[in-house]
Amino acid sequence: MSILIHTADGGCLNLEPRPEESLARTIVLSRLWHGVPLCSGLGKCGLCRVRFLSPAPAHTPEEARKLGPEALAQGWRLACLHPSEPCEVEVPAPVRSARAVRDLSPARGDFSLAVDLGTTSLHWAVLIDGKPVTMGQELNPQAGLGSEVMSRLAVAATAEGRLALRTLILDRLTDIAATAARDTGGSCLALAVSGNPAMTYILLGIPPDGLAAAPYALSYAGGDEQPLGAGLPPANIPPLLAPFVGADISAGLVAIEYDGAARYPFLLADMGTNGEFVLALSPKRRLVASVPLGPALEGVGLSFGRTAGPSTITGFRLTPQGLAPVRFEGDAAQGPPTAMTGTGYLSLAAILLRQGVLDRAGHFGPGSTPLAARLAARLTTLEGEPALALDDGLFLPASDLEEILKVKAAFNLAMSALLTEAGLSPSGLAAVHIAGALGEHVSLDDLETLGFLPPGLGARTIKAGNTSLKGTAKLVTDSRALAFARTLPDTITALDLTADPAFGDRFMQRMRFTHVD
Ligand code: FES
Repeated sequence: MSILIHTADGGCLNLEPRPEESLARTIVLSRLWHGVPLCSGLGKCGLCRVRFLSPAPAHTPEEARKLGPEALAQGWRLACLHPSEPCEVEVPAPVRSARAVRDLSPARGDFSLAVDLGTTSLHWAVLIDGKPVTMGQELNPQAGLGSEVMSRLAVAATAEGRLALRTLILDRLTDIAATAARDTGGSCLALAVSGNPAMTYILLGIPPDGLAAAPYALSYAGGDEQPLGAGLPPANIPPLLAPFVGADISAGLVAIEYDGAARYPFLLADMGTNGEFVLALSPKRRLVASVPLGPALEGVGLSFGRTAGPSTITGFRLTPQGLAPVRFEGDAAQGPPTAMTGTGYLSLAAILLRQGVLDRAGHFGPGSTPLAARLAARLTTLEGEPALALDDGLFLPASDLEEILKVKAAFNLAMSALLTEAGLSPSGLAAVHIAGALGEHVSLDDLETLGFLPPGLGARTIKAGNTSLKGTAKLVTDSRALAFARTLPDTITALDLTADPAFGDRFMQRMRFTHVD
């Protein structure tokens, strides 16, 4: 008996059951859900819904909330919550995160490829003579097999899981290089890939034992070239700096410091699914720490979240008429938006907080001005929880606000732990560089309002963009930048935040939209 899948375009797939896995994972491995921003078993996104044509399994409480009685009665279930057992299901048309590709120059010839391999997103640049000619961003194709680092590492714990994950990313990199070769008429002569240690180990097929459980340790520390396989040149891997502070941070430091313009002490906060932080005290001394932020900032795992791309809302403005959405840059806005990015969520939460429609603890409130009352009139319930209704069928449920609050608490905790270790206060920082998923589009006012940054620090904060990609592009085309990156490990002291017995208490103190030093 197999798993028989009927697809929306009239196709039929026969898949091998794997009862030790979820049905969603089996479908992901068939690549039918390539590019779908699944929350991977959290039961939040609803993007893994399938309709059983064979008898449906008993539903879970999450499904009752997410799908409702009518859909349950029709046989709809969330495939991430059921085992991969013989069955016949219908799979609706996948809701994919769109790839965003920008052509910047018509230059032709041999090229270098720089890749920022994030847990949730993949960013890349094709460079000719050191200048980008095409840049792209898309969902990491592995995301459907685990939405954050630890669940991805759990898949990578077996040789079979590692192979599946590695194949997904290698196939995509090979594809990007082949498309660039066709477009430029040249060959890929150099490649550099920067990712956190977990993504780097998975790319290279290295068992991630030292990353999956304490005591954490790096069995491979980067800073060399590694073969990836046919169709790709060997990959330059910048140094990994600590068990959860990776080559993406080495590349980020290249972007900020290599040209000699950095002012010390500065904080580099790379806010992706894994938050990686560097407090650079001088060119010779840097403290690093990491903290899991989860995929919320990248728009994944939130009820109406999506990675940045066409048809998404990336922010909001408050007008006398109420909330006005800001659409993804370059979005032709042909139709209504279908989702919000992490910055869209932050922007909305900051507006609600300023208007008193949200309190510091993350609860909805009535607001005190006529405009606030107009916003508060949108408060309703969704799937049994308080929510703010937006236009176009989008909502901000309380559980999504809690995810944002957890990210804020983790960010705040890492920042204050590094400053305490160095004996500095926020006012002693010359600069803060915000990088990663939020690095280009987030509003610094919003970060201050929500308590990510202490009051006043926004003025010394730089939206640094994707420093990992910028630095990777530099070191794949400039051997002196590469040499600089390789000096970084000797300057690093790593803090293990989770080893602190007070970690839980400190985290809970920061579960408010107020900065705590
Ligand atoms: S992957 Fe099943 S609800 Fe998100």
